[in-house]
Order: sequence, then C-alpha cells, then structure tokens
Amino acid sequence: MSEHQARAKELRERLVRWSKEYYQDDAPSVSDSEFDRALQALRQLEQEHPELATPDSPTQRVGAEPLKGFEPVTHRHPMLSLDNAFSSDDLIDFDRRVRERLDAAAIRYACEPKLDGIAVSIVWRDGDLVLAATRGDGRTGEGITQNVRSIECVPLQLKGADIPAYLEVRGEVYMPRAGFEQFNKRAREEGSKPFVNPRNAAAGSLRQLDSGITRKRPLAFCAYSLGHMESDGGPFASHSEAMQQLSEWGIPISEYGRVVDSIAGCEAYYEELAESRQRLSFDIDGIVFKVDDLALQQQLGAVSRAPRWAIARKFPAQEEMTVVRGVEFQVGRTGAVTPVARLDPVFVGGVTVSNATLHNADEIDRLGLMTGDTVVVRRAGDVIPQVAAVVADRRPDDAEPIAFPEQCPACDSTLVRAPGEAVWRCESGLGCPAQRRASIAHFVSRRAMDIDGLGEKIIDQLLASDLVQTVADLYRLNTEQLADLERFGEKSAENLVAAIAKSRDTSLERFIYALGIREVGETTARQLAAYFGNLDPLIQASVEQLQEVEDVGPVVAGHVVGFFAEPANRRTMDSLIDLGVHWPIPEPDQGGSQLSGQTWVVTGKLEAMSRDGAEEALRALGAKVSGSVSGKTTAVVAGPGAGSKLKKAETLGIEVIDETEFLSRLNSWQA
Ligand code: IVH
Repeated sequence: MSEHQARAKELRERLVRWSKEYYQDDAPSVSDSEFDRALQALRQLEQEHPELATPDSPTQRVGAEPLKGFEPVTHRHPMLSLDNAFSSDDLIDFDRRVRERLDAAAIRYACEPKLDGIAVSIVWRDGDLVLAATRGDGRTGEGITQNVRSIECVPLQLKGADIPAYLEVRGEVYMPRAGFEQFNKRAREEGSKPFVNPRNAAAGSLRQLDSGITRKRPLAFCAYSLGHMESDGGPFASHSEAMQQLSEWGIPISEYGRVVDSIAGCEAYYEELAESRQRLSFDIDGIVFKVDDLALQQQLGAVSRAPRWAIARKFPAQEEMTVVRGVEFQVGRTGAVTPVARLDPVFVGGVTVSNATLHNADEIDRLGLMTGDTVVVRRAGDVIPQVAAVVADRRPDDAEPIAFPEQCPACDSTLVRAPGEAVWRCESGLGCPAQRRASIAHFVSRRAMDIDGLGEKIIDQLLASDLVQTVADLYRLNTEQLADLERFGEKSAENLVAAIAKSRDTSLERFIYALGIREVGETTARQLAAYFGNLDPLIQASVEQLQEVEDVGPVVAGHVVGFFAEPANRRTMDSLIDLGVHWPIPEPDQGGSQLSGQTWVVTGKLEAMSRDGAEEALRALGAKVSGSVSGKTTAVVAGPGAGSKLKKAETLGIEVIDETEFLSRLNSWQA
C-alpha cells in the first residue's frame, strides 16, 4: 500500500468512526472543526490522487461547495399521496372497496408506521447513489442529491447480490425525536431559533443549499416503496418482498413492518402501535396499510393523487392550538426558574394538557409570546408539552406582555443569571421553600429512594406542619404524627411509615441520585457508584479524580465537590445514615466485567485477530472501547502502522501494548 493510500484509508476510517460517534452513539470524541479538517484533508488527497477516490468515501457525503439553487427533477412516475382514514369505519370501508374491486374474500395487507417527515425519491445506478429529489408537486421535485448523500444511514453504494442497473426508491427523511430535542436544546442555549417539530426540522435541514449544514443535522431515512427498477432479476411479487430486498441491499426499511391476513389484522396492528406510539424513537402520525400483492396493486390503480391500494389511518394529532391564559414561574430543585404557560385545556397527543413549558426567558422573547395569545402546543413521547409557536394573527387586542420576575417567586431573593446561561436561578438553596419541596419530591421519587405514597400534596403538608425540614426528617416520622394530619387515617399513616422504612434498604447509586446534585442524573450516579464503590471515597474525591469517571467533565465534577463541601448537605447525609439508610457494598468485579470502568483503544493492524475482534473481546470483558486516545484511556493496543493515536498515548504516558502482549493478557483474563 502506498503512503497516500494508507493515509486516505486512515482518514476514511477515522471519519467513519467519528460519524458513528456523532450520529449513533451521540458521543462525539472530536470537535466539529477537527472533523472538518480531516474531511478537507481527505478531499484534497482524493483530488490530487483521483485513483484513491472510492464511491463510498466520506467525502462523497458532503458537497464541497454550497449550491446556488435546487435543480428541478422530473419523477419517472408521479409521487402520489395517500387517502386518510380517521376512524375504524373508514378503514373497514376501504377494505370493502378493495375486496369488491378485486372480488376477493380477504386481502393481505402490509402495515407500516406513517413517518412524519419529508418524502424523497432516491436513485441508485449500478448500485451507486446518483440522484435524490423531493416530492415537490408530485411530478417535479427539487434535486437534493448532495443533501441526501449526507444522511448517515443512506447507502452511497448498495451491497449484496443482484444489484439492479437502475433502482428508484421512495421513502421518508425524518428527524428522530432524540436528535430533534437535542438540536432544539442546543439552539435554545445558543440563542438561535429552535424548530417547531421534527417534521419542520427535517424539511428545513433537507432544503439547505450547503450540504455541510445538512450533515450536522441528525436526519434518518426509511424506505417505504419501490419507485422504478431495471434489473435482470424478476419483478417482486409483493411489497413486503420488495422491502426485504431493499433491506438486503443496505437500504433502511421500517423495523415495524408486518404483513397481516385481513383487515382485522390491520385493526390489531393499529391498536398496538397507537399504544406504543409515544415510546417510539420517532414521530409517526398514523399507520399506512397497503395491499401487499403487487399484481393486485396494479389492478387497483390510482385515482388522481392517491393509490386505491393504500390508506393512511391517522392518529390523534400531537399538535393543537389553544390560548395562553397566564404564565407561572416555577422554582425547581436546583433553583432554576422555569416559566410555565397556563392553557385552556386541550386534548393533544392522547392527553388533556393545561400547562406547557416555556423553558426560559429567552424562549418567551423568541416566541414573542403574550398572555392571551393563541399558540401551537405540541406533545410527543414522554416529552413535557411545549409551546411550539405563536399564531400571530390571532392575537387579541387585550394581549399582555409577559414580565420575567426579578425576585424568586418562592423566597423573594434576587434571581441570578450566570454568564452564558439561559436560566435565571434562585441561589437560596434549601433555604428556599420551593427548592426544599422539589428536592424532597426528587428524593422520594420512584427512581431515587422510591417511597410510595409520598406525593406533592403530602410533602406540602409535612413542610407546612414543620414535621419535615430536610429529607432526613422523613425517617423520624411516626404514625401518630401523620395520623394527625388532614386527610390521613391510621391505615394510610401506617402505610406511609412502612414505605419510608422500606426505602432505608437502597443502593449506592439510588442514594447518590436521590441527593439531587446538580447535573447528576441516574447514569452519572450509576457511574459514580461503580467507580467509587462507597460514599466516603466519593465525598473525598477531588475534581481531578471525579473526572476519571466516564462522562464526568469539569462542570459536573465541580457540582459534586460543591455539594459535599456544603456543611448542611453533610449533616443531612450523616443523619440519613444514622437513621438507618444503607446499601450493599458492591462485590469486586467478577468475570464479564473484569475490565469495567476501563477505556481501551485499538489501533494499527493486528495479525492474529481483526481489530473488530479485539474490540469485541474487550467489550465482553466490560471495557469501553473508544476511537480516540484521551486522558481517560486505560491502555492502547497498537499494531504495525499505528500513527497519531500511538503518538498521543506516548505523549500522555498511557500504557501501550502490542498484539502478542494483548493476546497473552486476554488468555489470562478469559481463563
Ligand atoms: S406509501 C403511493 N408509506 O405519507 C403511496 N407513505 O400522506 C406512497 N409516508 O407522501 C406513500 N410513511 O411521504 C407510504 N410507510 C409509509 C409512509 C408514507 C410516511 C408519507 C409519504 C406520503 C405521505 C402521504
């Protein structure tokens, strides 16, 4: 292999790995600019040595120059839309019409989620992605080839056997919820405009003239039909068979697709998905049912804009309009003040919503919201209802501006905004009644100490009656005290005391999470518990030591140290332990997790085993395998040809071993 070839290969491997970290693992190990530099280096190398270019090179995912405009693309066959069914009766009517036309007793239907994104058509010639276009008016769309190429999951080159000479596939480009939430979170923090919903986000991201911008948006693609195919292989018998083949060529299809025997199966499928809809990782607005047999589809044909062989059964909307009657300012556990809109109750995403978060003061400004405004409320998944947009032309004359308070609404102390933060905070800590209440609610919550039956109303009663000041006081409560409270009977008092007693037996990770340290969620709590094994070493840990823990950076480490430095917090923890809160001390690691807590990097060429094999073996022993060397790396396995990672490990003084040493250690670990 020539020097250039090796360099191009190394750059490609690096870029592919970084892309995976960025898009799939949500854990980029390098900055955007480092990524861009590597991409630019590869692009230059490929320009200077065209023989090095490969059709699936990461450079092919991003166009070098922004476009001036989108080229029109005429679709070979019009891109149709779908008729909608809004009820079970509509669906039964559809099935009856299909059966009558075909003179059939029962029809097999392919069922798929109806993704809420943007329809696109993609063409592969001899396996290479050559064209992509939006639906446009159905006949002519816009050429967005470079942007579609930048979507990670879209194959630039098909894989497998019997690749057709020409393949046009239709499907939906969408933005998974997690990516959407994260994108909006970042936009809010940076003071730029968030998207109203994942669909708008997908549309806005796809219609970028600069594909470099599209690349940074977390888009995905899912195929839902075959547009046109020229191939030596015979035509497909059914839609489901065609989808299966697309999947084998590497094109993403819905993992929820299913074929059912009759319309009864469609009903059952609809119910099932309607029930699990909120748990999916992407927005869907209904279910599409398609006659599975392609010959029957042909026979049924289409009317004007929609086929007769398919229908979309719609779900209740996840967005509705309603009126903002006022704004309340809530003080959370960490003192952050969140504006919450009080709404005229509205049924959205399957529940009645009467409050929606407005996030922070900037968000109110950005929305340009006033009391009395009609707004779009959105609720999807487990996400708290949001005010997504203001309907400007419905503003009444008596609409009133919203003033963000300067004082804490609970304790009157002056609110503070840290430089660079969007959030105003009350800094009174547990001296603020709202923060005390919220921290108790957090402490008792299901994933923390899991005290059943201690709702917010009871917490308020306990605080008002002065029975409880800190969470430790909960463990001092007795049945007589509780039975004296309003709405408490003897039985309910006994139950609560029993539930509190039961929570004494907990785990270290629950306890750490329950403390409510800023930015220490469940995952961080688990990692801290695994790393330190008990409370004392955690209390004594320095900012530097804390940063050895996976995912703990300087900010979180600072919060942890700050929390334990607070005498009141230490007193509460001591009391909790004196009052019998305890947890088992974890056993030392045993097989399967022998390397847990360690981070390994494998680089260069290995002889006896593949790099993937080595990485897999490390993971099986509980290690984390990373694509880049950092201060958190435990050790590096380096084979011949190792370059920058080896250098960096040497600079950082990290242990480097060769393959022979690795194999011998592997033997002893696995023994
Ligand atoms: S089939 C001729 N299947 O819904 C039939 N469409 O409202 C073509 N859509 O324009 C559509 N998920 O963009 C089909 N599993 C799915 C779909 C789906 C989303 C979109 C598609 C279409 C629109 C019609």
